[in-house]
Amino acid sequence: MALKEPKKLTMEINHQKVSFPEGVTVHRAAELNNIYIPSLCSHKDLSPFGGCRLCMVEIEGMRGYPLSCNTIATKGMKVLTDTVMLRELRKEILKLILSEHPSSCLVCDESDECKDYQGTIRKTGVTTGCRFCPNDGQCELQDIVDHIGITEIDYPIYYHGYEAEHDDPFYDRDYNICILCGRCVRMCQEVRGTGVLAFTYRGSHAKIGPAFGRNHVEAGCEFCGACVDVCPTGALVDKVSKWDGKPDGFHVSTCPFCAIGCQVELNYKNGRLSKARANLDPEVNDGQLCLRGRFCMPETTHHFERARKPMLQKGDYFREVSWDEAKEAVVGKLKGIKPSEFLMLVSPDLTNESLFAAQKFVRSCLKCNSIDSSARMELPGGLGLWSKLFSLPISIKNIAKADAILAAGLDSRFDFSVVGVKVRRALDHGAKLVTIDPRDSNLARYAEDWLQPVPGTEGLLIKTIVDAVVGKIANL
Ligand code: SF4
Ligand code: SF4
Ligand code: SF4
Ligand code: SF4
Ligand code: FES
Repeated sequence: MALKEPKKLTMEINHQKVSFPEGVTVHRAAELNNIYIPSLCSHKDLSPFGGCRLCMVEIEGMRGYPLSCNTIATKGMKVLTDTVMLRELRKEILKLILSEHPSSCLVCDESDECKDYQGTIRKTGVTTGCRFCPNDGQCELQDIVDHIGITEIDYPIYYHGYEAEHDDPFYDRDYNICILCGRCVRMCQEVRGTGVLAFTYRGSHAKIGPAFGRNHVEAGCEFCGACVDVCPTGALVDKVSKWDGKPDGFHVSTCPFCAIGCQVELNYKNGRLSKARANLDPEVNDGQLCLRGRFCMPETTHHFERARKPMLQKGDYFREVSWDEAKEAVVGKLKGIKPSEFLMLVSPDLTNESLFAAQKFVRSCLKCNSIDSSARMELPGGLGLWSKLFSLPISIKNIAKADAILAAGLDSRFDFSVVGVKVRRALDHGAKLVTIDPRDSNLARYAEDWLQPVPGTEGLLIKTIVDAVVGKIANL
């Protein structure tokens, strides 16, 4: 069922009439109308937190300076976002935030020249400050300091002296530059549904991390990188591309690592793949990725053993050849064989377009139907049995709206984690989950029932369930 479009309302922001969908916050209404309100803790995909207080505004008829990120916009509201008083208040608030952040570079009058020459580098501790931060030049906090215009900080500066965390393979954490905006915590809890991160300790000792002293692995981290993507500072950064700097641009593509085909933004720097981030494609991955799509692309692409040119095998060795020579060799081999002697094997992880091209090639050029996929190896009971079960037109997006979910052989912690996100979303709305898996899985702990068939009989078990629920399905 199509969702009803929210009603459009109008209000005034900075004496300008703007329209906005009913139910959004003042901050979001401004954002949708390209009106900038400084903010560090709000994010369009996350619930309001009210932590940084930079988004305060003046609203006619309201006392004080309400936070635009947790005030719902209403029809006819009159809002000012950039008065002299607001600018002064924001400056003081930002100074307080910076009093617990390495801030020498942010307020240094030689900061611009320093980007190129680092001539006066010793003004700051040699491992602190923007010039030593992987986020330099691509940092929301830097941008806000520039926008608000801080030139000095009149508060004592406190450096936490936390040990940077480099022990996980995919992203590094340095909570000395964390501003406790809580975006990572909310992303992990509200969007991913994993609840790995929390505010640990209180007051000046508050720090982000898994609760109860566990490490990320013990706390069930999926290493999806969603927390890294919303961090406005350099506290959370990809390990592999940490020092690449701001990407030159990105291309949207399809993740090659599994059959889901998540949409990714491939960021490049100096003509080289730097990192992959999730594309917001709402039909497939909806801004999320799993560990492989998010973190494994650069290392796979740049791995020294990866073939970068066509290779022809001669005896035990492979020889690098030109594309023309490779094509000639393949055509020569294919010309000599009869259709009955040919079989093409394709990976189920190819895109629909590549799979279509492959079957077209086999049927039109080689005049046979001999094309198969290694997918059958992964489907206990055989492809024929499962293809009927898969014929329901359910998109990944719609899993989140299901009332009951049967998850067979799905451990979504590291693989297919974008599906796990939707399953947990459905559970939040009251759906029931049954898992079928001989092994334990990350979803089994949410399941009402966990069925453990003998390995290899999962397909038959599902067929039995389907038969019992909807009667015999002919020829299944
Ligand atoms: S490295 Fe030193 S001189 Fe350069 S911007 Fe930072 S504090 Fe200023
Ligand atoms: S997080 Fe941003 S503001 Fe802080 S040190 Fe890094 S680049 Fe500078
Ligand atoms: S990587 Fe993903 S699962 Fe792990 S803490 Fe970050 S958001 Fe949570
Ligand atoms: S780690 Fe980043 S996202 Fe998380 S609270 Fe700190 S600054 Fe915010
Ligand atoms: S954005 Fe509103 S308090 Fe941080």
